[in-house]
Amino acid sequence: MLEVSVTRGLGTRFIGHRIIHYSKIPSTMEIAKRESLQGALEGTVVIADEQTAGKGRMRRVWLSPKGCIALSIILYPNIAHLSSLIMASSLAVVHTIAAITGLWSRIKWPNDVLINGKKVCGILIESGVRDSSIAYTVIGIGINVNLKTADSTGISIPATSLSHELGREVSRLEMVRRLLVEIEKLYLSVKSGESIYQEWRDSLETLGKRVHASSGNKVYEGIAESVTEDGSLILRCSDGSLIKLNAGDITLRD
Ligand code: BTN
Repeated sequence: MLEVSVTRGLGTRFIGHRIIHYSKIPSTMEIAKRESLQGALEGTVVIADEQTAGKGRMRRVWLSPKGCIALSIILYPNIAHLSSLIMASSLAVVHTIAAITGLWSRIKWPNDVLINGKKVCGILIESGVRDSSIAYTVIGIGINVNLKTADSTGISIPATSLSHELGREVSRLEMVRRLLVEIEKLYLSVKSGESIYQEWRDSLETLGKRVHASSGNKVYEGIAESVTEDGSLILRCSDGSLIKLNAGDITLRD
C-alpha cells in the first residue's frame, strides 16, 4: 500500500497526513510509540502489510498476516477524552465496515468488533503519561479484511474476515482511507464536547448477556446490565450485587 495512495485527496484535517508504511514489521505499536516520543505530528499513521509479533489486549498475541489491516494512529488527546477514544475507535470501525462493505457489525464491550458474533477487528489503545498528563496515545487497529478465517485464529473467540462474510475480496486501501476519515470525525466530535456514548452503547451486543469477565486472577460472572458514560461495564452478579468493570483491565471470556 503506497503512502501517497492513502493520503491523496483524503480530506482529513490531520489524521493520515503522514503515513509510515512497512511491508513487514513486528508491531506497528512499537514504531508508533517511538515516533510519538520523538514528537511525530498528531495523526501520523503507521501501517504494516504484515506483522510478525502483533500485540493484542492483555498481552495476548495478535496474528495479522498479509491481507489484514494493521495500523496504529498517534494522537495527543486530553486525559478527559481517553474513555471516549475507546468508543470512537470501535464506532469508526463499525461505520467503515458498513460504508465499504454494507455489512452490519456490532461491538463487543469494550471495543472488539464482531460480525455475526465472530471477531473481525481488535483494538489496542496504549498511552504514555508524563507529569500526570497524556504524553501520547496510540490507537492500534487490526481488521481481518481478506483472510481465510482458518488462518486467523490465535484470538480467544471465533474469528471472521470481511472477505469471508462477503464472499469476495475487499479493498484494503478503501478501508484504510475511510477508517481514517471516520476516526477523525469522531475524535473531533469528542474534542468539541459532543457525546458519542449513546451511539456506542446502542452498538454494543454485550448488554443483557451473561458474561464472564477476567482481570488478573479474578473472574466475575453476571449479566451485563449497562455501561457508564466513562465506558465501564456494570455487571449484575448472581447474588444481586452490581460491580463496575473498567475497560482497561478486563477481558470478557466466552
Ligand atoms: C485485541 O483484540 O486484543 C487487540 C488487537 C489489536 C491489534 C492491532 S494490529 C495493529 C496494532 N499493532 C499491534 O501489534 N496491535 C495492534
